[in-house]
Amino acid sequence: MSITILAIESSCDETSAAVIKDGLVINNVIATQTVHENYGGVVPELASRAHQQNLVPVVHQTLSEANIRKSELSAIAFTQGPGLLGALLVGTSFAKALAMSLDIPLIGVNHMQAHILAHFIEAPKPAFPFLCLTVSGGHTQLVWVQDHLKMKIIGQTRDDAVGEAFDKSAKLLGLTYPGGPLIDRYAQKGNAHAFTFPASEMPDFDYSFSGIKTAIMYFLKDKLKEDADFIGHNLPDICASIQYTLIHMLLKKLTKAAEHYKITNIAIAGGVSANSELRSAIHKLANEKGWQVYMPKFEYCTDNAAMIAMTAHFKYLEGEFSSLKVSPEPRMKFGV
Ligand code: KG4
Ligand code: ZN
Repeated sequence: MSITILAIESSCDETSAAVIKDGLVINNVIATQTVHENYGGVVPELASRAHQQNLVPVVHQTLSEANIRKSELSAIAFTQGPGLLGALLVGTSFAKALAMSLDIPLIGVNHMQAHILAHFIEAPKPAFPFLCLTVSGGHTQLVWVQDHLKMKIIGQTRDDAVGEAFDKSAKLLGLTYPGGPLIDRYAQKGNAHAFTFPASEMPDFDYSFSGIKTAIMYFLKDKLKEDADFIGHNLPDICASIQYTLIHMLLKKLTKAAEHYKITNIAIAGGVSANSELRSAIHKLANEKGWQVYMPKFEYCTDNAAMIAMTAHFKYLEGEFSSLKVSPEPRMKFGV
């Protein structure tokens, strides 16, 4: 009998639904919320309202594009956490109601685990064990992945996530949210060594990204005293220099962990893994170190329900279902 799962993602500012059949994603619809653009970050209440508006149309669209009737579904999957409570609640309540009405199992998925399992949507799929650098708006983690559902976090940020550092730096430069892709774009025309920012040092395989934002704030304050249009005159160079510092920090710990664990299968995941300079810097490192690197397609780097569907497929095979009493977990953990 075939396994067909409808998956829903609503943890932050993307409302998404996908259908997976026997481990193959057959459709993935993403509605990106634009209401947050001028706020410098996601406004939780606005995110919840937008999910409420988008969810039913997104689910209808994916089912109709996949040509799947509700009666053909084997299970309903949803992002249980981590994420914004109100946003998660919209997806969780919808998934529970649909599973109950169709009398099929419910599968709660961890969003960070799903970012990693996005690698299994399409070939080339990483060989186990591999090391995954997961870099998103809310998390920065180094994860040792032994099997689809067996993972261990070996290092992580102690404060801000790297995506947050991109977005907050962009806000200081007057760019709209999310600033990460804009910094990436401007940086392509800039000199990465025009300015230097202090890279913080944490023990073991941990990171810290909160200091760089403050450093950039003071740097801009000083420069704006000399030239009121300093940002306008130097935007590509500032973006390239910020990006260089952040990527340098990410790769330093990734290299340290790969050497410590003697692992050469390396993957990146999460929204920041869409960054063009991070992708080319990892390829360069891979050539030097003899790594085999894996990067998801852009569509599967940022938030999407296809990765939730992929994770749910593995959980279905293991019989890992959730009860109808399940609640969202804004700080949900994963790993052994
Ligand atoms: O994984 P994701 O879509 O959502 C979370 O789970 O947080 O990641 C969103 C983050 C944002 O901080 C966004 O600025 C960043 O990914 N991002 C990028 C790029 N594309 C998205 N950061 C740098 N360069 C990019 N090209
Ligand atoms: Zn995410």
